[in-house]
Amino acid sequence: MSKEIVIVLDFGGQYNQLIARRVRECNVYCEVLPYYTDLEKIREISPKGIIFTGGPASVYGESAPRCSREIFDMGIPILGICYGAQLMSYLLGGTVSKAPVREYGRTEVTVDRTSLLFTDVEETSVCWMSHTDYISKPAEGFRITAHTDSCPVAAVEKADQKLYAVQFHPEVVHTREGAKMLRNFLYEVCGCKGEWKMNSFAEENVRMLREKIGDKKVLCALSGGVDSTVTAVMLSKAVGRQLTCIFVDHGLLRKNEGDEVEEVFRNQFDLNFIRVNAQQRFYDKLKGVEEPERKRAIIGEEFIRVFEEEAKKIGKVEFFAQGTIYPDVVESGKDGSKDSAKIKSHHNLALPDYIDFDELIEPLRMLFKDEVRKVGLELGIPEHLVFRQPFPGPGLAIRIIGDITPEKIAILQDADAIYREEIAKAGLDKKLSQYFAALTNMKSVGVMGDGRTYDYAVALRAVSTTDFMTAEAAEVPWEVLGKCASRIVNEVQHVNRVLFDCTGKPPATIEFE
Ligand code: XMP
Repeated sequence: MSKEIVIVLDFGGQYNQLIARRVRECNVYCEVLPYYTDLEKIREISPKGIIFTGGPASVYGESAPRCSREIFDMGIPILGICYGAQLMSYLLGGTVSKAPVREYGRTEVTVDRTSLLFTDVEETSVCWMSHTDYISKPAEGFRITAHTDSCPVAAVEKADQKLYAVQFHPEVVHTREGAKMLRNFLYEVCGCKGEWKMNSFAEENVRMLREKIGDKKVLCALSGGVDSTVTAVMLSKAVGRQLTCIFVDHGLLRKNEGDEVEEVFRNQFDLNFIRVNAQQRFYDKLKGVEEPERKRAIIGEEFIRVFEEEAKKIGKVEFFAQGTIYPDVVESGKDGSKDSAKIKSHHNLALPDYIDFDELIEPLRMLFKDEVRKVGLELGIPEHLVFRQPFPGPGLAIRIIGDITPEKIAILQDADAIYREEIAKAGLDKKLSQYFAALTNMKSVGVMGDGRTYDYAVALRAVSTTDFMTAEAAEVPWEVLGKCASRIVNEVQHVNRVLFDCTGKPPATIEFE
């Protein structure tokens, strides 16, 4: 463990990992721990500082998450954010009240620049508020260091005890000077040196994994995607051949993808690699199935069965590794955030109880995708793997509308390969967030040579997005699309029409099913 560490104490806020990320961006290692973490454990970790996150509760609520009051006497600098700020004030004897109207969104804030937290911060700038309760009377010994029009106490501090609190959210980009404020807390208040880098994350995790695993065995499910690749490579660096990776080829991968994944893992990394060619099993199960969620369920179940059979051959393993990253945790509602409507069942975080193992290892659980990529590069994984576009677990099954046949899969693989080739030739592959071909279930009339055809329409899709929760249809130059259309109808049998999807998300989704 790095000596210089800051702890984010999680009170159920929406942005807890974002805070951690901002701290890491200041080159300080950071971990998120639940609010009920033992003070003894905190003392052991001996952090340079602690940040209390926001949260949906009110400090007066019966089940409000609270930490022990003694945390303020440990001599560790603390920054409270939103609910965290209110809790600090409340526990130290201040008053928190309910505001008549909720303050939400961008707000002009005026700060006292003599505060260490606001060193070099503009006196008036924009911050992002999201609260109903507010600190109506600061706790004894605290002074007010910021206000907005409707919030007289937007920040308080007790500098001699290194306790700071802000009502707004410095971690979101809408708070213009937020990054500077967090940096000030880390450097000016906590005295951090900022020697941590992403490669320290890779190195430290490799070392920690080696220590944790010892001479035991680890099993990892490998899809060839960025997250599972980085997880596997990190583990292979830690424990080499004590690691076995199982790659289930369900026959719904892109053209030649199974062979490419196998080639890389067999030849470039030190681990036991097992490829299971289970194509036919999946095709049999999917025969005649049209409904998207049913397809997902079948693929998920069959995947587990195949995996289980292979895992049994290996026998008992002590650890099972998964490439879960932070957005998976959030989208699946496992971070304590509020329920959201289920649009698609993307991520399966259910513990795999079908394998006999003692402990789950998820080394990337607190990272965002771009951070995972940085770690991948640090580990020496080839760029073309690190910058792969996302590919869904159920693969082409959700890019073929309606029922799936081996013939349709082959058509789609060929059309998609041409599209990807042309996008790369045009230098667009790194600019687009995701792009692929889909096979519509529509047949239409065409004319080829002198004859009538009645064949499939292929749809091309390209989107730009940062978080994949919303997306815009990306512009692909007409000449690139024209070239794709002409190559696809000429080179791929049974396609006589090519369409381009120019819908955003919402109202469409990125995948077709
Ligand atoms: P949608 O289609 O929901 O896609 O706009 C958003 C992102 O999620 C990926 N996606 C999936 N990933 N299993 C996965 O592992 C799935 O069932 C699944 N469905 C969608 C999609 O590729 C896009 O990046």
